[in-house]
Amino acid sequence: MARDGFKALEKAVGQMTPQQVVEEVKKSGLRGRGGAGFPTGLKWELASKTAEGEKFVVCNADEGEVGTFKDKHIIQGDPFEIIEGIAIASYAVGANKGYIYLRAEYHYLRDLLENAIEQVRNQGFLKRGDGTTVEIEIREGAGAYVCGEESALMESIEGKRGEVRYRPPFPPQQGLWQKPTTINNVETLASIPHIILNGAEWFSQIGTEQSKGTKVFSVSGDVEKPGVYELTMGSSVEELVVKLAQAKNVKAVQVGGASGRLMPSEKLDTPLAFEGCLGAGAILVFNRDRDIVEMVQENARFFAEESCGKCVPCRQGTHVLYDILTRISQGHGHEEDLTILDELSETMTLASLCGLGQAAPNSVIDSLRYFGDEYRAKIQEIV
Ligand SMILES: Cc1cc2nc3c(=O)[nH]c(=O)nc-3n(C[C@H](O)[C@H](O)[C@H](O)COP(=O)(O)O)c2cc1C
Ligand code: SF4
Repeated sequence: MARDGFKALEKAVGQMTPQQVVEEVKKSGLRGRGGAGFPTGLKWELASKTAEGEKFVVCNADEGEVGTFKDKHIIQGDPFEIIEGIAIASYAVGANKGYIYLRAEYHYLRDLLENAIEQVRNQGFLKRGDGTTVEIEIREGAGAYVCGEESALMESIEGKRGEVRYRPPFPPQQGLWQKPTTINNVETLASIPHIILNGAEWFSQIGTEQSKGTKVFSVSGDVEKPGVYELTMGSSVEELVVKLAQAKNVKAVQVGGASGRLMPSEKLDTPLAFEGCLGAGAILVFNRDRDIVEMVQENARFFAEESCGKCVPCRQGTHVLYDILTRISQGHGHEEDLTILDELSETMTLASLCGLGQAAPNSVIDSLRYFGDEYRAKIQEIV
């Protein structure tokens, strides 16, 4: 409360119409922080324009991407900020119920969140002037990476197996129990109170043309100072990895976790922005002692385990990628394996039903491009 907690909600509900809130978020240029970067205001507008009736807001706290731990810090640091963001989103789109979908491994954060929700409820912050209230409930995942994907997440909240849905319809039109549902990442929702309180212009002055505001990153791997960093959008990978996290002898950096893009050290001037390279903000750093093929093989194992199995390119493709990479790593690879990896990666990117299968081959594609010699060295060793 001493740091302007719930002042933004008071302003939104007391001085602005829901349409004005949506307009403010649109003008701010805020884009989703969960990976895909969809414009938040536009998503809210779609949900707000659906017919009146039951609607939902979901805070995606699944944070399953390899190397991501920034949402956990936001929740631990200020759970009230997220609750305020959910309450403002609910007012803007006309929802009366919010869910926080909490990663299974974050079970220990449940009490902290429940306590925060109860305090907010007791203070009367969840009641609106027109007599309506927004209720917020926590639902926990069961450890599946795919349940961070918004449609699988909704299946999971509905109590079903976490499997991806065909789209359209998209969640703002038909989501939870076929009702309009607005799903946003923890960091996205935590930005909302600041935008409403300080104005869209304040927010849009920070960052780059297409990426406004700041971004929170989780940095891990071969660095002296792993941790969570908040930087202005457009800062370079080098500034974060070398200057702040103090990495030495960098060989490669993967921006966006296991499903992110892999870049060699020569590309560290790439901006951390939607127009450069971003994802959900997981930064994995590999030094010169790391074996790139083994690292990519490990990524492939993860995706083969986590594929929900609904579509063939991913269900089969992730396993074939893993098998080929294992063969090469163990010294049984052939030159033509590289062509198969390349072609299979392209097929998976184009034909998979959701982002898991589409992004699973990213590190294969990038490693073949920048570290092809390491593959060939392993193949030649055997021949
Ligand atoms: C396999 C997969 C896993 C995902 N995991 C998460 C996650 O853990 N947290 C998250 O916020 N978004 C995740 N997403 C993105 C969500 O589908 C969705 O785009 C996001 O929650 C929307 O919120 P935003 O617009 O605020 O980013 C995932 C997507 C895919 C394809
Ligand atoms: S891409 Fe993978 S995770 Fe996504 S629907 Fe297809 S099988 Fe499931």
